[in-house]
Amino acid sequence: MNEPSISHPNEPKGNAIRKRLDKAVGLGLRTYTPSQLVVAKAKGCHLWSVDGRKLVDFTSGVLVANLGHAHPLFERLYRQYADGMPRNAYNMIAPVEVEASERLIESMRNPKAQKILWAASGSEGIQKAMWAALHRYPGRPIMVATRGGFHGKKGLAGDVTGESSTNPNVRWISFPMYDANPPAFYQAELDALAKAHPGKIVLLITEPYLGAKGSFHPPKWYHKLLQAWCEKHDVALIFDEVQASHGRTGRMYAFQTYGIRPDLVVMGKGLGNGEPVAAVAGRADLIDALRYGEASDTYSGNPRACAAVCATLDVFEQERIVDNCRAMAKVMWRGLNDLMKRFPFIRDVRGEGLVYGVEMCDDATANRCVLEAYYGTGKLGVHFLGPLAGKVLRVSPPLVVTESELESAFAVLETAWQRVKA
Ligand SMILES: Cc1ncc(COP(=O)(O)O)c(C=O)c1O
Repeated sequence: MNEPSISHPNEPKGNAIRKRLDKAVGLGLRTYTPSQLVVAKAKGCHLWSVDGRKLVDFTSGVLVANLGHAHPLFERLYRQYADGMPRNAYNMIAPVEVEASERLIESMRNPKAQKILWAASGSEGIQKAMWAALHRYPGRPIMVATRGGFHGKKGLAGDVTGESSTNPNVRWISFPMYDANPPAFYQAELDALAKAHPGKIVLLITEPYLGAKGSFHPPKWYHKLLQAWCEKHDVALIFDEVQASHGRTGRMYAFQTYGIRPDLVVMGKGLGNGEPVAAVAGRADLIDALRYGEASDTYSGNPRACAAVCATLDVFEQERIVDNCRAMAKVMWRGLNDLMKRFPFIRDVRGEGLVYGVEMCDDATANRCVLEAYYGTGKLGVHFLGPLAGKVLRVSPPLVVTESELESAFAVLETAWQRVKA
């Protein structure tokens, strides 16, 4: 039996739709958010509820719409690329797939980004990257993952997510969180694994920063240390940029932010600015280890997904999206730290580019903050995801956000969070 539907005062339309949804759609499909905004319209960095309230979008629809909603140039180019293409192109070749693949490779400026494998979701991309490594190095079953990472819920991606696994071949290493240990600590963990499994380790998978665990952004030496160890032991380094690629960290790709060249980079969310598309870009010898059909499925590399990839790259080239992200990062950092000074229930602010975690004193306060931000000043609210790891608010507006949009969101939070008593 489901719990009663979420409802809010003065939201007759929203409340009715929430009730119908709960009747028709499985609860397991949604993640918990105390607001459960029912959205009628989205444009740029704003959302409008069916009951006519306006909200600043601090989520980009779970870090997907990096260019914002209904971006005019993106929408026009997307339609142009997709025009006349079949709905799907299984067992056919749509030229737009070739164009998207070549352009994605070119955009990465990583000599190891030689070929593409398309997927329809981030976790499928992760799984395909892992399959590529496992096929390339048969007889090497051990997979190393960073503890606390999130790579998806399905299959192998689920096996390397979290802190424990039912897959007997998964081994965990530490990721720097509140206080980074010195490099020697992480080196010793890796060396112990190499010693315990000589010639048996196939891959190491990690995220640029721990997202779902609560926004932990490692010191720059950390990924370099992992990369050096992978090179020494000929282990495939898989960098999960599903939520970090396409400008989010202040560079086009997070591997550039962290100064490494992974063997396989997995992208999703921002890759098609909201069109469901994911991709693995990496070494040809790894990707070519998968033969005809071994990584195929109905939707991977479909023309509309590839049209979205091309249109997204065009907008990044024609508008200074990454520069804006870097400029707005300063405004964001200042604004969030001012809020921390003002509200003692905020315990920490962490992040880079336009992806931040605001850690609250406890889970109940974090949920209350999401709800009060939603109610905002009445006229204007701020839309957040449900807290990460219990008590961390994710702040990830579209990368096209302006200073005045950020300032108006902070002003709303100033007012709204006065109603929160920790
Ligand atoms: C870092 C990371 N990897 C993988 C995934 C899984 O992507 P998807 O939900 O599209 O399967 C996510 C989704 O949140 C993610 O944040």
